[in-house]
Amino acid sequence: MELSDAYIASFISERDELLVEMENFAKQHHVPIMQLAGIESLNQLLRIQKPKAILEIGTAIGYSALRMAKALPDCQIVTIERDESRVQYAKEFIARSEAANSIQIIEGDALEVEMEKLPTTFDAVFIDAAKGQYMKFFEKYSPLVPSGGVLYIDNMYMHGLSNLDIKEVPRRKRTMIRNLKTFSDWIMSHPDYTSAFFPVGDGLLICLKR
Ligand SMILES: C[S@@+](CC[C@H](N)C(=O)[O-])C[C@H]1O[C@@H](n2cnc3c(N)ncnc32)[C@H](O)[C@@H]1O
Repeated sequence: MELSDAYIASFISERDELLVEMENFAKQHHVPIMQLAGIESLNQLLRIQKPKAILEIGTAIGYSALRMAKALPDCQIVTIERDESRVQYAKEFIARSEAANSIQIIEGDALEVEMEKLPTTFDAVFIDAAKGQYMKFFEKYSPLVPSGGVLYIDNMYMHGLSNLDIKEVPRRKRTMIRNLKTFSDWIMSHPDYTSAFFPVGDGLLICLKR
């Protein structure tokens, strides 16, 4: 049975003016930000986990970083974004919030960032960047997560594409979908992680490090 949008919306919390402005900005400028049901679920899991430090791959305009910072006032968030203009918008939006001191934005490609620039551990890593590169992000950053830490990975549905037979996927997206599938098969049988898929938002995969 499909749940109605109105029923789902009845569980979405009110956002302050700045967050609503960011949501409208993202819509107007076609910046992909996390879906509301997805970020609500992620934040609730983070409240339960209580991380002191989170690494986010894929800042965009800083929406999810700010949502996480508001949900976890005692947590430090480092977030990486390669798109220069998005970094500028993220800095401007975050500077206007009360969470400016909890969020550090690193500009650059997450696959090229020098590890020395980062703290040595993160209790949580949130991966929300180029979908075809999830395996590479995971391999690079999972060593920073201690046992008991969690990696959260968004867009596992890929807006419905990962559900299709590969021949039905538009040609230009096939490599990305194949990579995503290779990654999900690999992580689901990885001996160091207990992973579960949450069919919320665009599909959230949660990998708990043993
Ligand atoms: C879906 S958006 C992130 C949305 C954001 N997490 C939110 O919900 O507010 C993905 C972002 O990842 C960035 N990105 C993609 N590949 C990247 C990489 N290799 N390194 C850094 N940023 C990357 C893109 O430029 C884009 O802004």
